[in-house]
Amino acid sequence: MNILLTGIKTTGTPHLGNLAGAILPAIKASADPGVQCYYFLADYHALINTWNPQALHRSTLEIAAAWLAFGLDPDRVVFYRQSDIPEIFELTWMLSCLTAKGLMNRAHAYKAGVAANATSGETDDPDRGITMGLYNYPILMAADILMFKANRVPVGRDQLQHLEMTRDIAARFNHHFGEHLVLPEALVREQSGVLPGLDGRKMSKSYCNIIPLFTSSKALRKAITHIKTDSSPPKAPKDPHTSTLFTFYRAFASPEQTAILAADYARGIGWGDVKQRLFELLDDLLREPGYRHAELIAHPERIEEILREGATKARRKAQLHLAEFRAATGIRPLKAPL
Ligand code: TRP
Repeated sequence: MNILLTGIKTTGTPHLGNLAGAILPAIKASADPGVQCYYFLADYHALINTWNPQALHRSTLEIAAAWLAFGLDPDRVVFYRQSDIPEIFELTWMLSCLTAKGLMNRAHAYKAGVAANATSGETDDPDRGITMGLYNYPILMAADILMFKANRVPVGRDQLQHLEMTRDIAARFNHHFGEHLVLPEALVREQSGVLPGLDGRKMSKSYCNIIPLFTSSKALRKAITHIKTDSSPPKAPKDPHTSTLFTFYRAFASPEQTAILAADYARGIGWGDVKQRLFELLDDLLREPGYRHAELIAHPERIEEILREGATKARRKAQLHLAEFRAATGIRPLKAPL
């Protein structure tokens, strides 16, 4: 049985890039009867980036609602909030005790913080503004994964180092305490799942180039008109490989639809017509989930109940595993010798 696990940091509003890169593939993967999926809201990871309580809370609601609106089935997937599983934080400590500080010094996010200090001329304290949360981020992520003995972890390319670290930490635990932790494998999202933003760079909140998932048709149309194109005239043949519009279309269309558009590019199709076609595709794809999303947002208590049921299932497993890991390290009840 494959155990597939992934976490979604609860920062920001879910956008079209998240849908193509994470939500749809994860929901599709959960239909396979040979896998048990654990998908969770990494809200304690979000606390590292966001010190705005309303924003964190709102993002948790919106992201949970988005995953459910696109068809995540909580009967198939263990869907929970990281902060509801205290065992994860206990395991985080156990792993911290085994993790070399030097390993954390090499983490990209931490090094980026130090580098930013250096370029800004900060000489007194290279760690200025860097929290222990940011520093320990990879250990918490390792605990998320190792807690459930997950062997497959779908992630973006930027998370590969964290997976490597998870394997390192797990291997050290196993070396000292016996084979208890499972070394996970990263399943890196395919390039086709990575959507560019309106300006052609990666779609990301921080670049302000996103298309939100749940807006009006009018706002969707407007966002699509902003997608970057070149200045070739309407009848000129066009190259789909260099076209942001095509990348968008392909991410959501069927292979047949994609082939038709590619042929139209070769023949010469105006950018306005491509935009119209993309609009129709997306407007159709987002309509039903949009209704479900609105319904869920209006009833947060329904989402809350789903997450609590998920947490109950997740904790049952987590408690079982944690008892095993604790016993392995010598933290176990005292008993008279037989
Ligand atoms: N760090 C991941 C991200 O930023 C989110 C995450 C937290 C995660 N814990 C995880 C992903 C465990 C996979 C497995 O995208």
